[in-house]
Amino acid sequence: MANIIRLPITSWKYACSAAEQERALYALEGGNVLLFPQLRFSVQQNENRLLSPAIAGDGKNISLNPAKGTLRGSDVDETHRTLLRNMMLRFALYTRTLLQNLLPHYEAGLQQARTSYRPLEIAGRSSSWRKDDTRLHVDSFPSSPIQGKRILRVFTNINPHGQPRTWRLGESFDDIARRYLPTLPQPIWGANYALQLFGLTKSRRSAYDHFMLQLHDRMKADAAYQSQVSQTVHDFPPGSSWMVFTDQVSHAAMSGQYALEQTYYLPVDSMLDSSQAPLRVLERLLGRTLT
Ligand code: SIN
Ligand code: FE
Repeated sequence: MANIIRLPITSWKYACSAAEQERALYALEGGNVLLFPQLRFSVQQNENRLLSPAIAGDGKNISLNPAKGTLRGSDVDETHRTLLRNMMLRFALYTRTLLQNLLPHYEAGLQQARTSYRPLEIAGRSSSWRKDDTRLHVDSFPSSPIQGKRILRVFTNINPHGQPRTWRLGESFDDIARRYLPTLPQPIWGANYALQLFGLTKSRRSAYDHFMLQLHDRMKADAAYQSQVSQTVHDFPPGSSWMVFTDQVSHAAMSGQYALEQTYYLPVDSMLDSSQAPLRVLERLLGRTLT
């Protein structure tokens, strides 16, 4: 089961000690949540107007490609777009700096992916069961195959009303895989090429992606599992930030409003101990390679 490991970092530019770097690496790769209780992201005065659900379009998140500066998921005017882009780019840069200082072991392999802003209240939002992140799951996305790469995410709660972001954390990836893998269908030969050909996936859906999507779906669809599996509840207060491999750690976001999130991809070979990667766990249990 995932634990919350705390690090008393107070600045995004904090120069971490070797002991802190080691603690972070072991915590993350071991399937825990790394919490920075005092690491605040400051919203500037003129950005306060972004703290409104009206900023989001139809989707639940606003996303930014930090390399290109392109925004998606909001139809606000140009003034607001500039404010949004600035705030999200600042967060993207801060997380990048933090990772350089905290996880130098990952530096060579780390790929910065999209940044997201989440201005909607999670609780009471309606969505299909597959998109319902209030159900325990490991992250896997139908249109974004990753072929075994790790998904490392940095979150910060910027709620101005003192409201925490509340998560549930479930059993270990090993336990999830042992529970569901024996009953999962095998990938259909050629289907991955068809999905890519018709633009339904951004790259080839590997056998790894197939099994991760199946695990994601089976967990979310299993109501008995959701209520009965051993789990803990954790509140992330405003002014705190946290980091977690969301492809490995079973999580559910139950309530909360106004968070920023930055996604990174990491090749399995860049890990200190790649045997803990979902790719390697699944390969061990299936007795074959999955790339
Ligand atoms: C998720 O990754 O399931 C959602 C996390 C969050 O928005 O807090
Ligand atoms: Fe998730």
